[in-house]
Amino acid sequence: MTTHTTALPGQPFFSSRGGELFVEELRLADLAREHGTPLFVYSKAAMLAALGAYQRGFAGRRARICYAMKANPSLAILQVFAQAGCGFDIVSGGELERVLAAGGRAADIIFSGVGKTRAEMRRALELGIGCFNVESEAELEVLSEVAVASGTTAPVSIRVNPDVDPKTHPYISTGLKGNKFGVAHGRALAAYRRAAALPGLKVVGIDCHIGSQITDAAPYLDAMERILDLVESVEAAGIALPHIDFGGGLGIDYQGVQPPAADALWRKLFDKLDARGFGDRQFLIEPGRSLVGNAGVCLTEVLYLKPGEQKNFCIVDVAMNDLPRPAMYQAWHAVVPVAAGGGPASTYDLVGPVCESGDWIARDRELAVRPGDLLAVMSAGAYCMSMASNYNSRGRAAEVLVEGDRAAVIRGRESIADQLRLERLLP
Ligand code: LLP
Repeated sequence: MTTHTTALPGQPFFSSRGGELFVEELRLADLAREHGTPLFVYSKAAMLAALGAYQRGFAGRRARICYAMKANPSLAILQVFAQAGCGFDIVSGGELERVLAAGGRAADIIFSGVGKTRAEMRRALELGIGCFNVESEAELEVLSEVAVASGTTAPVSIRVNPDVDPKTHPYISTGLKGNKFGVAHGRALAAYRRAAALPGLKVVGIDCHIGSQITDAAPYLDAMERILDLVESVEAAGIALPHIDFGGGLGIDYQGVQPPAADALWRKLFDKLDARGFGDRQFLIEPGRSLVGNAGVCLTEVLYLKPGEQKNFCIVDVAMNDLPRPAMYQAWHAVVPVAAGGGPASTYDLVGPVCESGDWIARDRELAVRPGDLLAVMSAGAYCMSMASNYNSRGRAAEVLVEGDRAAVIRGRESIADQLRLERLLP
């Protein structure tokens, strides 16, 4: 007997076989039974395939892919990317220590973020990170001061705000004039002149980032033009820019909207770079979501069905504290039954146990479910676990990484003892 296998749209390492969902060679229902729910499940092959698209795009070029670990900073995931030759884009001292704990090299780290503290700068200098992506003129002054006091020189790149509309959710567009990020395009030359004059800094490149979940090539091409104009004027002022960092990666397919493939986009970008004579620079990029987003799902159990006059609610055991994207950005995640379902089909809002009306995971979905059934919230590898909290004193979910027919728990379920560890009663 042959079993019909269908890869799920956008998540080819997750498939439906005879109505049952699989990750690589493992049945998701078995993982949920063994490890409980809510449970994040990741496919290592999916991560490496996503990375492969960037690697193909950069083949034959001097380039480094620095995984933006804010998307998912679990140690084992960092380990996968470190072993695959990636560097890391970090935004805090905590992320810095995680890279080291996962076996990553300090020299392969770039440090972004608008609010680096002196302590974070000192630690990063002591370890010898690859580059500070400086986001303001004030930060240049402080970083130089800290470097001089530490008897060292900080490698810097200035993050330039290109003022390009990435046409994504306003909370995740970062390269517009009204955003807090980067140095305004019009101020960048003056900032570079200052950086070159400061004793504790060594200019090594230029950086920009226009936003996240971008599904169209046009904003990247526009931003690249604007950055190259600036490279020309900064170098004409006698300041060399050995590397160009092009910021975050592409969006992913959450709901049938397919962004360009990374290799195809980079072919286009390199055509432009070559045409303008910059093709031989060193290139850095900082993709996060596109490396892990569609490599993960979150498994959840249906607790109760609650029919109502206006809405039917399907109450599940995953909530906004575990998977905050719908509550924060009205984000859409596909929801798929883990096994061919139970009850009569009906239209439900999928909601969690947290005491907020904003605690929803999906709205108006047609589902045939009964209490006890398992559902997979798809495309949950990026910005889900990394943004999870203990709101309502809920312990954070466990995480499992699958490779072929093997599953490893990479983060245990958070217990109440874990949650109470740092707290003290008054004497
Ligand atoms: N580099 C910088 C400087 C960034 O700010 C970001 C993301 C990245 C790289 C990675 O971008 P990606 O390749 O993941 O698009 N929590 C939001 C996304 C916030 C993105 C913030 N910056 C969400 O769940 O959609």
